[in-house]
Amino acid sequence: MYATGADVKRITVIGSGLMGAGIVQVAAQSGYNVTMVDLSPDSLSKGQNIITSSLRRIAKKKFGEDAAAAKSFIDDVHSRIHTSTDSTQSASESQLVIEAIVEHLKAKQDLFRALDNASPKNTILASNTSSLPIEDIAKSVSEERRSKIAGLHFFNPVPQMKLVEIIRIPETSEEVYQTLFNVTKKMGKSPVACKDTPGFIVNRLLVPYMMESLRLVERGDATKEDVDTAMKLGAGYPMGPFELMDYVGLDTVKFITDGWYANGKGIKGDKLVGPSQLLNKLVAEQSLGRKSGKGFYSYEGVGADKKS
Ligand code: 3HC
Repeated sequence: MYATGADVKRITVIGSGLMGAGIVQVAAQSGYNVTMVDLSPDSLSKGQNIITSSLRRIAKKKFGEDAAAAKSFIDDVHSRIHTSTDSTQSASESQLVIEAIVEHLKAKQDLFRALDNASPKNTILASNTSSLPIEDIAKSVSEERRSKIAGLHFFNPVPQMKLVEIIRIPETSEEVYQTLFNVTKKMGKSPVACKDTPGFIVNRLLVPYMMESLRLVERGDATKEDVDTAMKLGAGYPMGPFELMDYVGLDTVKFITDGWYANGKGIKGDKLVGPSQLLNKLVAEQSLGRKSGKGFYSYEGVGADKKS
């Protein structure tokens, strides 16, 4: 049984998008051997590029103009990162598997079923889901595996955000919780524990706040620019709610709220997370935020980091 983070030697991360690549990076930076898994070599190479550009940013701060030291730091982290398109083969060699694929329940259940069958009996299977109940994902695994299932929820940008939420379902064992606590501490994060409730801690507070900011603008009470300025300068948030929705992805915000409004335990039908015409219109137009070049603000021609 794994009781300390030190017992975890190899981590498999499934999904090489922004979140998956970020998790791979922080795990490799903290000394773990990591296998990054995705469906195609093309997706894996995009994941490697996300990691390299983030590492360059960190290396620039750490080593300034010392190009040799920066290169050695980046190469060292990359030397612990392996890539694969075979999730079950990688899981069979890992003590911890972190899933960060699309937010689609059936896809996650199919993956967890396959991972359960392929992994040694002590391997922990964790999900980075932000919107699906861990218990629903866990329905696809055997009774014996249930004690090794948990949520491990990172935040964007993963290398920068210090928090990880550890989500326990009733069956999650204390040893598994302690292992995840120690692994995330070793990654330099501050873990917090939460039950398997919609949005856990951060999104349960953040998402209704985003929706209230939409209602405020829809009523014509204030402009989105003034709402963003107000929350940055009056509440000390690093981004205003509209900048943050552009950062997280408008489709993601819509997906989370639609799911909760239809089905969320304890939040179903709550007008706090009811539909927003403004959000629906932008998503229908494929204005999804930074990733599509346009959301509440425009990012075209100025790079995804800046808004015009
Ligand atoms: N990799 C490495 N470092 C990064 C980075 C990355 N991808 N992105 C930002 N950084 C670092 C920068 O290097 C800089 O470091 P320094 O302070 O040591 O110099 C620091 O972060 C600040 O970055 P910038 O100066 O470029 O820009 P900002 O000061 O505007 O900060 C931000 C950017 C960190 C994104 C900040 O605006 C922020 O914290 N925003 C809020 C993000 C947030 O709330 N995330 C949670 C979203 S909810 C979520 O993820 C849950 C999901 O389930 C929906």
